[in-house]
Amino acid sequence: MATSKANNPKDSEVTPEELFLGRRNFIRAGLFAGSVAATSLAYKYFGPRSANPETASGAADVASQTAVAASGDQPNTFEEITNYNNFYEFTTDKLAVAEEAKALVTRPWTVEVGGLVQRPKTFDIDELLRFPQEERIYRFRCVEAWSMVIPWMGFPLAALLAQVEPLGTAKYVAFESLYDKSYMQTSWSAGIDFPYVEGLRLDEAMHPLTLLATGLYGKQMPNQNGAPIRLVVPWKYGFKSIKSVVRITLTDSEPPTTWNIAAPREYGFYSNVNPNVNHPRWSQAKERRIGEFSMRPTLMFNGYEQEVASMYAGMDLRKNF
Ligand code: MTE
Repeated sequence: MATSKANNPKDSEVTPEELFLGRRNFIRAGLFAGSVAATSLAYKYFGPRSANPETASGAADVASQTAVAASGDQPNTFEEITNYNNFYEFTTDKLAVAEEAKALVTRPWTVEVGGLVQRPKTFDIDELLRFPQEERIYRFRCVEAWSMVIPWMGFPLAALLAQVEPLGTAKYVAFESLYDKSYMQTSWSAGIDFPYVEGLRLDEAMHPLTLLATGLYGKQMPNQNGAPIRLVVPWKYGFKSIKSVVRITLTDSEPPTTWNIAAPREYGFYSNVNPNVNHPRWSQAKERRIGEFSMRPTLMFNGYEQEVASMYAGMDLRKNF
């Protein structure tokens, strides 16, 4: 996964998000920073807003949200977030994903939710877009040691799972991406198996920080970022945040995950951001925020330690990497 290509647009080249942000107030109000004690569980204060991420009309609502303490992190620009991507179904060249992913067909789109649930159901994307959508500004840390801050739109995965009623025997949640051979790369050329699959433990999936994202910067999800709906798990390395999800299955055993299948000694099932456990081939102690020159220290659980650490109490995080 590691490549050294970088994309640092100049400030003068990146403007569209200013229309959306507009005011410093929004940044202060919206930045959900787990590293700041006062903001723990702050997502609770981001109430429902515009149900349609296609419209940017929710921006004003967000700006008026109750302010929470900021960590000093600034969201990356729309240009940065949408032009430096990993989406191997299209290309392994981060800078080319935006162009190649124009081929992604996002309508009609359904997400089949089943397995160990009381009420299996196939949701149409328009139904999912009617779940109350929220703004969540999260840090995003790729295992390749780059990071961004992204203002996602979406809703908690827990809200979807509640509708299908997981059975007592369900312990894990498996996710699968669209794989359409007619316009996507072969597994052979990408170097990983398709369809792309991921998984979470049920408590991780139910955690209020875990998001099904349907957009960013108040716009519907750009194709290159995993349209029309993707997972976002902000305390885990970015590859856990599977894109363009078509199937969610509750299981009683740990589901296979794409990068673990490809390189089991390098990518574990948990893949929690951890500056103390290095990748076998590089350090995880620091990261380069896209748009910045120097490296910054990586935070335990990507800064969401207070919210999520208890889920791993007593676990050997080196063994369960
Ligand atoms: N999901 C699918 N289906 N295919 C992929 O190649 N790449 C993963 C993850 N989800 C990937 C995926 C990796 S390695 C990262 S870092 C993030 O998506 C990148 O998300 P972004 O392009 O929105 O920054």
